[in-house]
Amino acid sequence: MDYDFSNKVVLVTGASAGIGEAIALLFAKLGAKLSLVGRNEANLRAVAAECEKQKGVKPLAIVADLGTDEGVQKTAKETLEYFKRLDVLVNNAGIGVATSILHDTDMQLFDDVFRLNVRAVYYLTKLLAPALVESKGNIINISSAAATMVSTGGVPYSMTKAALDHFTRLVSLELAPKGVRVNSVSPGITESEFVKRAIGVTQEQYTQFLVNISTKIPMGAPCVGDDVARMVVHIASDHSRLVTGAVVVIDGGYRFSGPTSPSVITSSR
Ligand SMILES: NC(=O)c1ccc[n+]([C@@H]2O[C@H](COP(=O)([O-])OP(=O)(O)OC[C@H]3O[C@@H](n4cnc5c(N)ncnc54)[C@H](OP(=O)(O)O)[C@@H]3O)[C@@H](O)[C@H]2O)c1
Repeated sequence: MDYDFSNKVVLVTGASAGIGEAIALLFAKLGAKLSLVGRNEANLRAVAAECEKQKGVKPLAIVADLGTDEGVQKTAKETLEYFKRLDVLVNNAGIGVATSILHDTDMQLFDDVFRLNVRAVYYLTKLLAPALVESKGNIINISSAAATMVSTGGVPYSMTKAALDHFTRLVSLELAPKGVRVNSVSPGITESEFVKRAIGVTQEQYTQFLVNISTKIPMGAPCVGDDVARMVVHIASDHSRLVTGAVVVIDGGYRFSGPTSPSVITSSR
């Protein structure tokens, strides 16, 4: 099967690191015109430069905080002003939070994770839906196996991803008559900055976390960003022309491993 995105404009949020970086690079290899979003300008520009090396197409790099309405508006406005169209929206930017209902956690943490993982996705999709209707494009929401797993240590995060999956189903029905597909791709444990950012651990502790967690993954290994990127590209392509409202899990069977705590490393937050 071949994938050609050379006439397509693809917007990837959270493209400055991790899974979003892998998604951006794979789309760049397939010739897409990219709009890349993140807060860390140096990282974002480094990823954009790497993407440009693939097929010589220079991405638009948008430095924006999607946790703010201004950041969401800037992302939609600059993308449409620059490219005048949009074919694929990848809502990837997300944060985790390690906490327990028994911890004395500031409610700001709850609001922050919902603001980025749910509200920003809803708002950006709303602003860009008309352009996607025009191009008969599609939307991919990067969710998580955590959306259906019953585990301890991350209730607000898991709630955001459950909300995101239902958002996928609901919006897929609204947009199907307009020819726009909407799907979730849900990774399990994936090597990135994510856990380090959520729990605040050293690289050494993170490496040990991956070793520990791998014993709980039926297929014995965590994902890497490219595992997720390949599925995103497949679902975004015409090879998936009737796939909509789906939640595709890539987790080596991790979600069947029984009640576990993502905080194999403990956190007191
Ligand atoms: N890694 C996993 O184990 C895993 C598992 C399941 C699902 N996921 C999901 O996969 C997605 C990507 O996670 P990842 O593992 O790649 O994490 P990551 O390595 O921490 O990358 C997160 C990306 O989101 C961006 N971002 C964070 N806050 C932002 C904000 N307020 N505004 C704009 N951009 C923001 C970050 O860029 P800046 O810092 O430059 O803003 C970065 O590019 C998330 O939705 C996550 O929930 C991850």
